[in-house]
Amino acid sequence: DPAPTTGAPAVPPSWALGPQHARWGFGSEREVRRVVAGYRARGLPLSVLHLDIDHFDAHRVFTVDRERFPDLPGLAKELREDGVRLVSIVDPAVAAVPGNAVFDTGAAVGASGAFVRDARGRTVRGEVWPGECVYPDFTDPKVREWWGGLYEERLAQGFSGVWHDMNEPVSFAAFGEPTLPRSSRHALEGRGGDHREAHNVYGLAMARAGYEGLLRLRPDERPFLFSRSGWAGMQRYGGTWSGDVATGWPGLRASLALVLGLGLCGVPYSGPDVGGFDGSPSPELYLRWFQLGAYLPLFRTHAAIDAGRREPWEFGPRVLDGAREVLVERERLRPYWVTLAHMARLTGAPYVRPLWWGAPGDRALRECEDAFLLGDALLVAPVLEPGVEERSVRLPAGRWYDTVSGAVYEGPGQVVVGAPLSRVPVLARAGAVIPVRGPGGGLELEVWAPAEGAGGGGSVVRDGGDGWAPVVVERYTTRLVGGRVVVERDGEEGLVDCPVRVRGL
Ligand code: NOJ
Repeated sequence: DPAPTTGAPAVPPSWALGPQHARWGFGSEREVRRVVAGYRARGLPLSVLHLDIDHFDAHRVFTVDRERFPDLPGLAKELREDGVRLVSIVDPAVAAVPGNAVFDTGAAVGASGAFVRDARGRTVRGEVWPGECVYPDFTDPKVREWWGGLYEERLAQGFSGVWHDMNEPVSFAAFGEPTLPRSSRHALEGRGGDHREAHNVYGLAMARAGYEGLLRLRPDERPFLFSRSGWAGMQRYGGTWSGDVATGWPGLRASLALVLGLGLCGVPYSGPDVGGFDGSPSPELYLRWFQLGAYLPLFRTHAAIDAGRREPWEFGPRVLDGAREVLVERERLRPYWVTLAHMARLTGAPYVRPLWWGAPGDRALRECEDAFLLGDALLVAPVLEPGVEERSVRLPAGRWYDTVSGAVYEGPGQVVVGAPLSRVPVLARAGAVIPVRGPGGGLELEVWAPAEGAGGGGSVVRDGGDGWAPVVVERYTTRLVGGRVVVERDGEEGLVDCPVRVRGL
């Protein structure tokens, strides 16, 4: 019997594995165009742009400020033709104002309406961005169904995915707990209970409502959803992110711990606000964060409305060049990311793994918190401190190649690798097969020469589009025969039907 599980993770659409950019406060269509044009003009790949609450009308969810965003569907179409998808923030709290369509239709759901009530039957009021708000009770299937239907408005505006926020749920409070009162009542799937029980599953249930809604509305595409709050099992509906990680070196370090920990808990798709949420990172901190983020599943720059800029060109030419390099590399590795996403669903293995993955007995590796494995093939050793020119890396057993210098190392052990500001050290495992985008855009296999007498290999899942095409796992093996690297697919050399580029020989 398979081990009990909280569920297999959703596979994000391929475009959600590319570089993403957000900010609270783009503020207008014009600014969105300026930012996207800035990426294009500088040769910086961009796959997704996120709109935060400032594009809503009076901060109300499922609305658009028509003065500053007069033609969102037109903008979305234009960006999409340019290869950029739009993702929308979605907050659960609903402005408690008659005439607000979401409030009015919510009040008409079932016998008692969609919103959380207290023990005396009065709707519980809270305070969020739009002012006085009420809260959908996502633990009620009827409410999930109604809420899921509201995403039709988002799709009609041209959005391709959603970003759930403030779903702890938040109610601003000068003192006490900034959430719903513990005595608030919830359906809890018909059983009934109070907020003490519902609090931690609120975000999970919201994710379910959003995912199922998107699936009903657009059945041919895999939904893209990530959420600030959740619970075990949220991976069935999507991913999560750091929330407002503080701008500073400790925040950078925490970003890696977060993604590693969540992956081990079954939630493989996550990432930080690259650059930190508040204030302004130094150019060095920004680039180091960017370099780490490029190797984490959700790779997204984001910042608060009053924070400094986060576009890669705002930190001088050195940072721009360094950012471009990892952005381009991220896109080159897109087929590997697609493979990792499918393998996470099939096997439960997270994309980002601690160094001890596969060698749980190695104590030295267990203590290592400053490097990680990306799938089976790559070891990423990000720089998490200022002023670094080189860093030590603890290696799991076997041969490893420095992907830039080609230097060869033998693990287990500790080595020192160059880590100037311009690069994030990445090592490849001998024998690995990594699916990459070739120069012409087609699939290519990057094969790192196996050590003498040792084999290697890897799995590849080809990008079958953003729908539900059956998933085929191709198994490759590698070995060294008379100084030549032999690559076989399912045991036959003849089945390898894409270019192979051997490295490390
Ligand atoms: C809090 C979120 O964590 C942040 O990412 C977002 O920008 C703000 N809410 C505004 O929506």
